Amino acid sequence: MALNTNNGSNNNNTHPSNDGNHDFDVSSDATLAVENLSKVFESAAGRVVALRRINITINKGEFVSIVGPSGSGKSTLLNILGALDKPSFGKLFISGIDIFSLSDKEIAHMRNNLIGFIFQSYNLINRTTVRRNVEIPSIIARMSSKERANRSSRLLEILGIATKAKFKPASLSGGQQQRVAIARSLMNNPTIIFADEPTGNLDTKTGNEVFDLLRLLSSKYRRTIIMVTHNADLAKKTDRSIYIRDGQIEKEILY
Ligand SMILES: Nc1ncnc2c1ncn2[C@@H]1O[C@H](COP(=O)(O)OP(=O)(O)O)[C@@H](O)[C@H]1O
Ligand SMILES: [Mg+2]
Repeated sequence: MALNTNNGSNNNNTHPSNDGNHDFDVSSDATLAVENLSKVFESAAGRVVALRRINITINKGEFVSIVGPSGSGKSTLLNILGALDKPSFGKLFISGIDIFSLSDKEIAHMRNNLIGFIFQSYNLINRTTVRRNVEIPSIIARMSSKERANRSSRLLEILGIATKAKFKPASLSGGQQQRVAIARSLMNNPTIIFADEPTGNLDTKTGNEVFDLLRLLSSKYRRTIIMVTHNADLAKKTDRSIYIRDGQIEKEILY
């Protein structure tokens, strides 16, 4: 069972990129670091300081959980770590590259090739099939249709949902939908996977199964996994928990 069906190469930059974008050689080292990260939201309701001077370094292959009360800034932090959102102050480095010094186009390119996202509410497109949902990131990355089909078939099989390929996501159970989202997050063979409460909508047994898949990605395939969770039992099974409170790091626990 090989997760990497990309000619045995672990390098995501083998896909042709005809758009003249910067190529990221991150296969050797994908250390993730934030320095003095702060995020302020200005809205009609007023000013919210969601994150204050956060400093974190996450090594390649680490499985890190982010834990904390509702509203403490976990999703805001995850979104900035994954370059989905920009900080108000501070920097994000991936493999030493100052990510927010890049153009929006370069950031989007980096994200699509290097990063996978999994959300609590799956965020699948219900108009189209399970297979198409899984393939979307590879269409954006201009993967060849042959490689795309091979790879999505493989991932659907690994995740135990091959028989659902032609179904619409809404006809699947929550656990199956989250497996589709995991398959989608893996489609471009990312080095780093972000998961925001991936088990939050699932019953305990199904949640544990989804967690075990992430654990496998970490231990067997050496992907970096950063997971927000409310579940202390699951957090204990990761390598390290970062506790967030009121937008600040309260403590870190190494297991
Ligand atoms: N887009 C936004 N606009 C204004 N305030 C926001 C926005 N996103 C998050 N917040 C606020 O930032 C704080 C942290 O939110 P969030 O990161 O979602 O917390 P958590 O994921 O830990 O529940 C909360 O006070 C929330 O209301
Ligand atoms: Mg959240």
